[in-house]
Amino acid sequence: MSHENAVEVDHLTKKFGSFTAVDQVNFIIPKGEIFGLLGPNGAGKTTTIRMLCGILLPTAGEARILGFDVAHRPEEVKKRIGYMSQKFALYNDLTVFENLDFYAHLYGVSREKCRTRLEGLIEMAGLRGHEKERAANLSGAWRQRLALACAIVHEPPMLFLDEPTAGVDPVSRREFWEMIYSLAGQGVSVLATTHYMDEAEFCNVIGMMHDARLIALNDPDSLKSDLRGILLEVDCESPGQAEAIATLLPGVIDVALHGVLLHVTVENETIQQTLEDALASAGITVGQVETVLPSLEDVFVSLVAAESRSRLRQEIA
Ligand SMILES: Nc1ncnc2c1ncn2[C@@H]1O[C@H](COP(=O)(O)OP(=O)(O)OP(=O)(O)O)[C@@H](O)[C@H]1O
Ligand SMILES: [Mg+2]
Repeated sequence: MSHENAVEVDHLTKKFGSFTAVDQVNFIIPKGEIFGLLGPNGAGKTTTIRMLCGILLPTAGEARILGFDVAHRPEEVKKRIGYMSQKFALYNDLTVFENLDFYAHLYGVSREKCRTRLEGLIEMAGLRGHEKERAANLSGAWRQRLALACAIVHEPPMLFLDEPTAGVDPVSRREFWEMIYSLAGQGVSVLATTHYMDEAEFCNVIGMMHDARLIALNDPDSLKSDLRGILLEVDCESPGQAEAIATLLPGVIDVALHGVLLHVTVENETIQQTLEDALASAGITVGQVETVLPSLEDVFVSLVAAESRSRLRQEIA
């Protein structure tokens, strides 16, 4: 175990009966870094987090959190981590202050420390002036900030956040990430799951999960520059129909709808003409075609498509 790593995950696997929810996942999180775990519904993100928090026993493989093996030393792990679960629990009939106070007790924060700690958290979470408000009356963004404050009341060096910003408006999401950044700046290591690709840009390293497997692991810029081929953004009529045509063309790697635009990944520059000709001969008027830099969403779509193709090949073989 390197003391530089907050998390070390080695072939971590979880099966529910014959169903594999997490399949031989490997990654590390260096101390003080923000790791983003991305993936569609059912990919296995929550199951991974629950194993890392010591709530669920792995079927195979291992995970060490701050040097402690989660399966053998869950108590050592639990006192060093904060966990904001996907359906985080605030006590609705308690006030903001009472919720914080409750969690401080639960995590064994000493009486002497408690007062200043809670004051600091109220400040950090922007809840000043709302201490006496019942949790039930807080809006989504406020609840999330309070839940985060509750999860870190015992100053854990490792923080697990499972979709902390789901359903929150973009401005509040950004504010929430500012808080995460500031925690990381203080040396806290963070693992966060999200569906929002723009949020993934805030992470030092990204793991992309799909069907229980980790299909990519790298920093956001490398993930984008590793993408095979050239990405064309096509403005054309009937993008749905254009998508179907583009998919069948040789030299086209991936096609995805991007709002009203079409994103087409091609092998090389010459395919652009092939594409424009094919669309024109199908009677589709093509406007502007531009080479663009891929977003993380493009990366994800492309990796999932590649993964599906390789599984299909394995099944046929
Ligand atoms: N206790 C369980 N028993 C059986 N199957 C389970 C259990 N927990 C999770 N699963 C299944 O494992 C798969 C992965 O679930 P998980 O909750 O980890 O996904 P997720 O990536 O967090 O998805 P979401 O984005 O919807 O939160 C799903 O197919 C889910 O139905
Ligand atoms: Mg989940």
